[in-house]
Amino acid sequence: MTLRDLCGVDLWHGRIGPLEVRIRGACRGEAGRIEDFYRSLSSETLYSRFMSIVKDPRPYIERVFDSQGIVIIAEAGGRVIGVAEAVPATGDTAEVGVVVHDEFQGMGVGRALTMALLKAARIAGIRRAKAYVMPGNYRALRLARKAGFTIENNYGDMLELGLDLSPING
Ligand SMILES: CC(C)(COP(=O)(O)OP(=O)(O)OC[C@H]1O[C@@H](n2cnc3c(N)ncnc32)[C@H](O)[C@@H]1OP(=O)(O)O)[C@@H](O)C(=O)NCCC(=O)NCCS
Repeated sequence: MTLRDLCGVDLWHGRIGPLEVRIRGACRGEAGRIEDFYRSLSSETLYSRFMSIVKDPRPYIERVFDSQGIVIIAEAGGRVIGVAEAVPATGDTAEVGVVVHDEFQGMGVGRALTMALLKAARIAGIRRAKAYVMPGNYRALRLARKAGFTIENNYGDMLELGLDLSPING
């Protein structure tokens, strides 16, 4: 399955606190909207996501779309409040990343996005997910651990997490 197949596909919807949240596959035509979302994040949140200073998010977004990765978005009130991606790495492994807008962190949006991303990855035939997180990013680590990730490598300033994704049967 390619990203095109997930464009507009509903993955989850429900209430998170006061928000009515919908999580769905993003479409290539929404790259500008996703760029605006990334540009609206604080530098701390952006740094936690990419572990580097990102001045222009557009090339990254284009690369994910070009690589037939998975891009999903969480929307509330017509606004993008979170984005998650799975980018093909080696073999049937994909590198995953999740980010929630500063205003909406700590409410459960990241958990819902992560679960939706892993569901989409399984549907897409991805067998293994990996993620890179800073050791002090307790919120991300707690979320990853609850989703089943384990620490596979400790590079000091960066942890490599991994998760086997069993195929969905039936
Ligand atoms: C990491 C991130 C995606 C999590 O999303 P979120 O919506 O803020 O997190 P959630 O509200 O879904 O909470 C996830 C877990 O972290 C816990 N948590 C929330 N705030 C926390 C804090 N300050 N410290 C430790 N744990 C915290 C929650 O309790 C929850 O665990 P629980 O299910 O056991 O209660 C989000 O904070 C974010 O965008 N961070 C910046 C980007 C980033 O670090 N991405 C991850 C690397 S790819």
